Amino acid sequence: MDAEAWSQHAPEYCKHAVSITGKYGDYMGDAIVAELSCHDDGARGSGTPFRVLDIACGRGDAAISVAERLIASDLGQRGTFQVDAIDFAPGMVAMAKDMVASRGGTIAAAITCTVADAKALPFDDGSMDAVVSNFGIFLVPGRFAAWEEALRVLRGGGFIYASAFAPGRDVGSALSFHKTLLDTVTAVRAELAVEMGSAAAPVMVAAPAAAAPAAAVPAVVGASGAAPAPPAELNAMAATADQLAEELRSVRGVEGASVRVVDCRSTIVISCGAVADVTLDNPSLRAAIGLALIRSAADASADARVRSKMVTLLLAATAARNERAPVFFNAAANLVIARKLRPGA
Ligand SMILES: C[S@@+](CC[C@H](N)C(=O)[O-])C[C@H]1O[C@@H](n2cnc3c(N)ncnc32)[C@H](O)[C@@H]1O
Repeated sequence: MDAEAWSQHAPEYCKHAVSITGKYGDYMGDAIVAELSCHDDGARGSGTPFRVLDIACGRGDAAISVAERLIASDLGQRGTFQVDAIDFAPGMVAMAKDMVASRGGTIAAAITCTVADAKALPFDDGSMDAVVSNFGIFLVPGRFAAWEEALRVLRGGGFIYASAFAPGRDVGSALSFHKTLLDTVTAVRAELAVEMGSAAAPVMVAAPAAAAPAAAVPAVVGASGAAPAPPAELNAMAATADQLAEELRSVRGVEGASVRVVDCRSTIVISCGAVADVTLDNPSLRAAIGLALIRSAADASADARVRSKMVTLLLAATAARNERAPVFFNAAANLVIARKLRPGA
């Protein structure tokens, strides 16, 4: 998606997706503070703030998580850190600015949000002590250039942290929940058709998409240490963390042995009411349910009726699968961590 599409999508993304992605910003903040307590190599001059860059920041949740953790750390006690958050979508940056301002105090003072492309960062070489990208660079088309930029602005010895969704059984459980949801939509529609005295029309709801095939992984740089040619096929789709790790190993200046993939999991608990709300906010699912049809029957309480039917049917469907209500959604992601070579190393 381009910047305009992300801007348009920003309110919906921030309302629904951040509850899943937000947790991984916390992991990044924890990792930065843990690394600092073991390896603060004092490369900064005295009085120079510790600087963190959040690339493709969206609503700024990762930047805020990192800032919160730095505030609580020794570094924060001394007040010497600064977080920059960039995104190429002006709509996202506007939301990030609002979010940061709403936190006030030290958070608002520490974070600066700017519109910028991950592939042309407006920062000096080696100016950042750490770089994070929460579900950001993993989906940037042509992202090899974004890795190179991230490494350019990172100082030697600094770390980059990037998250990506992990494939595996959790994807299966997400798809199985998706199927329950679509079945519920079908059932709600059939019940409403009966209620309205019309024959139930065939329901046109897309089946859940199959898991995306693995993207091509670029060759790892050879023992000669020659700069790798930018892989041609890095722009097709979001990559897994293992693929990101392979890519990072091939970026000039990365300490190959430092590249690692860490498993992170979080369980999101969603009430059936919240699932119904999310569904009814989705224009295509609203259309599938036939809400527009009911609206045309001048029924002012249509939303409430459909919502209550969805909640009842979802509760029944999740109970039938012997699962507890509310719905538990296991989100699995990986954190890819890499270190930039120190000068002269
Ligand atoms: C899945 S969202 C993640 C947002 C946020 N980091 C989070 O965790 O919620 C992906 C973000 O990448 C941004 N993005 C995509 N391509 C970009 C690029 N080339 N430069 C900067 N931002 C980009 C989008 O605008 C969007 O905000």
